[in-house]
Amino acid sequence: MEAGIEFASQRCIEPACGARFALEERLYVCTRCGGLLDAERNTETICAGAELRRIWSKRLGSLDARERSGVWRYRELLPFADDAPIVSLAEGNTPLYDAPRAAEYCRLDNLSLKHQGCNPTGSFKDTGMTTAVTQARILKAQTLVCASTGNTAASLAAYAARAQMQCAILVPRGQVSHAKLAQSLDYGARVLELEGNFDDAMRVIRELAEDESIYLVNSINPFRIEGQKTVAAELLQQLDWRVPDFIVVPGGNLGNSAAFGKGLMELFNLGVIDRVPRLIVVQAEGAAPFARLFRQDQCDSLPARTARVPVLSDVFKNIEQPETLATAIKIGAPVSWKKALRAVMWTGGCALSVSEQEIADAKAIIGRDGVGCEPASATTVAGIKHLVAKGVIGKDAHVVAVLTGHVLKDPDYVINYHRETLFTHDRSSVKSKEERRLVGHYSNPLARVKATKQAIIEQLKHQRTDDELMEATDSPNT
Ligand code: F0G
Repeated sequence: MEAGIEFASQRCIEPACGARFALEERLYVCTRCGGLLDAERNTETICAGAELRRIWSKRLGSLDARERSGVWRYRELLPFADDAPIVSLAEGNTPLYDAPRAAEYCRLDNLSLKHQGCNPTGSFKDTGMTTAVTQARILKAQTLVCASTGNTAASLAAYAARAQMQCAILVPRGQVSHAKLAQSLDYGARVLELEGNFDDAMRVIRELAEDESIYLVNSINPFRIEGQKTVAAELLQQLDWRVPDFIVVPGGNLGNSAAFGKGLMELFNLGVIDRVPRLIVVQAEGAAPFARLFRQDQCDSLPARTARVPVLSDVFKNIEQPETLATAIKIGAPVSWKKALRAVMWTGGCALSVSEQEIADAKAIIGRDGVGCEPASATTVAGIKHLVAKGVIGKDAHVVAVLTGHVLKDPDYVINYHRETLFTHDRSSVKSKEERRLVGHYSNPLARVKATKQAIIEQLKHQRTDDELMEATDSPNT
């Protein structure tokens, strides 16, 4: 047996292969069959569920940096030795909000929002970047790279800076918000704007990573998924281990869905939780290759949970030219779709897509709870609204929507929605500009005012009341 194999290893996820590799091997896919890899801790080295809950609860009050990280607090689940040289920015520890307006919008009694946008660089990527960059340090990697729609880039830039390591990020030119680019520049990353879309960037970066001196930290890297999976533990701990009925996440490259599924299954198998919530993945209509795998009616009655994952390799089709204003998830060839499918099957969930109008409106409603998020995150609330309307999610179900990015990640989108100058794309030019305009059902337009007290008082009379706002909920998309 190779060194390190007893404690933890990397394993090919393809059932027909299942090849194992040592943790120290710098791999992204299985060298035998090309399948995706899981990093796996040997469960015999982990204590029982009740004991884990006790340890994690005790750590909540600690001042130790490792225990204050919302990722490393759950290190019993991670494939790292206790003395690993961790690179951390106190990630995780993100709030779980109740959201009465968003709940009403979805016609639910209650809705919780787990706001991963409250991470150090404003997105959920930090929870995986802390583990990936720690692994890079262990492997003594020189240059860290990623392809990104902006958030992975900002996160890598920050963690590489923290570790004093060199990094380069590849982003599709003109398709990344300025806020995200600004972060990457400020953290000192080499920012390369690619002529092409995210999928082109992903293809090129995988070729680049064949070079020994380069370490790839996209979510194809199993150590990214390991950090991201701890969000499931943090969320359940915040709920005092009361398992919700549904967890809803946006889907882009599908690392997040994959990580949630892995985290939930590990918590269940270790006896930390006694049942598993259903995982629902929501994509934007113009970039929904994963949701297309699920027949329209499949979300109508959810399947039983199963460990058997159908072989769909010849059914899955990439989308050549994905389009959505939620640029974070403008992805047509998601790398982790097989892991995400496994997660959805394990938990008896499903995937669906929502329109640009639905995303924009849901985002504005989330804002009205005082929470706010970036467009990609709002697919969750839009998807929940659909599933409640269809009766798939019951009115009294316990639902958690995972918000993946901060509202300040894409201010142009926000301003344009409220000004009603947000236009969808139409490559085929069939629709006129006016037809592509999104309606600001919940817009809150800027008002110009003369510099007099009377003018200001006049303006205040025109503000929409809460009741008027929620009345608008009855008209669109119900
Ligand atoms: N939400 C936000 C805010 C994101 O930035 C991303 C992905 C997703 C959702 C989708 O998560 O890819 O794990 O399914 N952003 C990547 C990036 C692709 O490069 O920042 P996923």
